[in-house]
Amino acid sequence: MASSLRTLSDIEDARFDGRRVLVRVDFNVSISNGSVGEDYRIRMAIPTIEYLAKRGAKVILASHLGRPEGFDSDYTLAPVAKRLSEIVDRKMAVRFASDCVGPAVANEVSQMNRGDILLLENLRFHKEEEANDAEFCKQLAAIADIYVNDAFSTSHRKHASTYGAARLFDTRLAGFNLKKEVEYLSMMRENPPKPFKVVVGGVKIKDKIGALEHLLPKADKVIIGGAAAYTFLKAKGVKTGKSLIDHEHLPWVTKALTAFGDKIMLPTDHVAAVSPADTSISMVKGDIPDGMAGFDIGSETIERYSAEVAGTNGSGMIFWNGPMGMFEVRAFANGTVNIAKSMALAYWRGAKTLIGGGDTLEAMKKSGVNENEVSHVSTGGGATLRYLAGDEMPGVSVLNGA
Ligand code: 3PG
Repeated sequence: MASSLRTLSDIEDARFDGRRVLVRVDFNVSISNGSVGEDYRIRMAIPTIEYLAKRGAKVILASHLGRPEGFDSDYTLAPVAKRLSEIVDRKMAVRFASDCVGPAVANEVSQMNRGDILLLENLRFHKEEEANDAEFCKQLAAIADIYVNDAFSTSHRKHASTYGAARLFDTRLAGFNLKKEVEYLSMMRENPPKPFKVVVGGVKIKDKIGALEHLLPKADKVIIGGAAAYTFLKAKGVKTGKSLIDHEHLPWVTKALTAFGDKIMLPTDHVAAVSPADTSISMVKGDIPDGMAGFDIGSETIERYSAEVAGTNGSGMIFWNGPMGMFEVRAFANGTVNIAKSMALAYWRGAKTLIGGGDTLEAMKKSGVNENEVSHVSTGGGATLRYLAGDEMPGVSVLNGA
């Protein structure tokens, strides 16, 4: 699928000159007190935006933000327009439209000059976006001549802006970021460089089962941390105290251990406490006592996991999704910090490293590891896992082939 995706550089520059290009981006970023926090998703869209603007296109950007139910000023994209205007090429004008469809938007678009950038207001202020409503799709498609999807992280949604409206264009291209995401993730899903190692943490096993079913047979090692590890340990008969257990998925975990137990690595010691707020933490080896819960992997486990992650001798691929413990609390951050640093070391030694999921990027940054110390940071959380599971991605399949 990856190589057959047609991207911007696959068509002649002249075809963009003076044309209106609707670009679906994912500017679903954190906003507090009216300003953007982590802006990785905005920065990742810059190559596509500037490429088009430099070729004389009128660049119309469409995104969702959060999950509002109708208009809600807490979810306006205005702060994103401000942030975008600060980081995009200074010669390019960024304007913000107060809606995403309707006469006011049509008027704004009609006044655009070659190379202008217009960010539309939050698509989800209209319930028709998520409903993939036919009339709404027509209205969105009417404001542009060419469609580009650069929002891999929203491509698992069959919404108007990712699917229904896209189908109404003759030319439907992949943005540079989307294409790169699909290439990296396809390589990992179909034919990962060896040795291939997967590090899985976080809380929810349910969301990761599909991806793990695909990756477990291909991986050489699967390293489990975070709350997910306690469900695996419980399935092996280890006492887990009052650690978070996903009872619903214990049968799946038991099956996975039977089939792939030789490659699954589990923690052997833990940082445990009565509650996350408990200041008296204990280092526990083996069984976790009743009344206590594990909140991070212990030092012996850190050493084992770090050696496995960092020691790739400059080859292979490592995928990391989900923190090793409750890293927001300082006392439980050590496991995650060490995995992040080992990922960086593996990268510097020459391995291909990938991280996915919003909290994994946050964990990496909190650990002092930069984005340029990893081969690829996937912008998608749910979308990345769904793609790895082999699920249909309407926002990718709707694009034209080469
Ligand atoms: C994400 O943050 O994973 C994407 O922007 C998709 O958001 P959604 O889950 O609200 O559709």
